[in-house]
Amino acid sequence: MSCSITLKKLSYKNEANELFKNIDLNVGHEEKVAIIGANGAGKSTLLKIIAGLNFCFEGELQLFHNPIKNKKEYEKFRSDVGYLPQDVNDYFLCPTVIEDVMFNLRAKGEAKEEAYHKAILMLEELGISHLKDRIIYELSGGEQKIVALAGILITKPKILLLDEPTNALDTQAENRIIEILNSIKKSMIIVSHHKSFIDKLAPTIYNLSCNELELI
Ligand SMILES: Nc1ncnc2c1ncn2[C@@H]1O[C@H](COP(=O)(O)OP(=O)(O)OP(=O)(O)O)[C@@H](O)[C@H]1O
Ligand SMILES: [Mg+2]
Repeated sequence: MSCSITLKKLSYKNEANELFKNIDLNVGHEEKVAIIGANGAGKSTLLKIIAGLNFCFEGELQLFHNPIKNKKEYEKFRSDVGYLPQDVNDYFLCPTVIEDVMFNLRAKGEAKEEAYHKAILMLEELGISHLKDRIIYELSGGEQKIVALAGILITKPKILLLDEPTNALDTQAENRIIEILNSIKKSMIIVSHHKSFIDKLAPTIYNLSCNELELI
């Protein structure tokens, strides 16, 4: 199988606890995988490792069959990975919604008019056109989450790592996200506590519990 993400015997300890031990995981090309688990089980920590934000692990992380041990080795894959953190508070770089959604495209060298046009379409697709000129830090938690998702989806990464993408969203916004994510053919890991959300999205579900990743 062609794998986008592979974990081999991945173990991680923080100062207080061993969070996981000898975890194996394969996420295939365009496969959608969900991870559930109790508060504090280590789901966000695991996603941060796969997102290249923490290299203090033992075992192996591979992206597209390339072993990655440190930040330098991760760099050439960074633009292939779209990571939505659980807490988007410190996530935004621009004052307004439209500027922030355009930002990653502009950073890749895209012309301003083209980036603006794509950002407008992205906001429409996510049903948040009315937020276009709002100051991000004046938005609600759910609005911020969906703006952050727009900024990720617009760059069309090959891998999506989504940490509780719907935890602050109303039913209408959640259904829109389900529809969009279902229409996207990418490798995805989705962490969520919402079983009904996951059931509509990811055929493969793992439970992170007692240091192990168990297929359910
Ligand atoms: N930066 C940090 N420094 C020290 N401990 C941390 C840090 N980040 C997380 N932890 C601890 O690691 C453990 C796992 O945290 P993590 O955020 O990965 O859990 P989670 O499964 O995502 O939980 P939740 O469902 O509440 O989001 C927790 O006990 C947490 O307190
Ligand atoms: Mg978490």
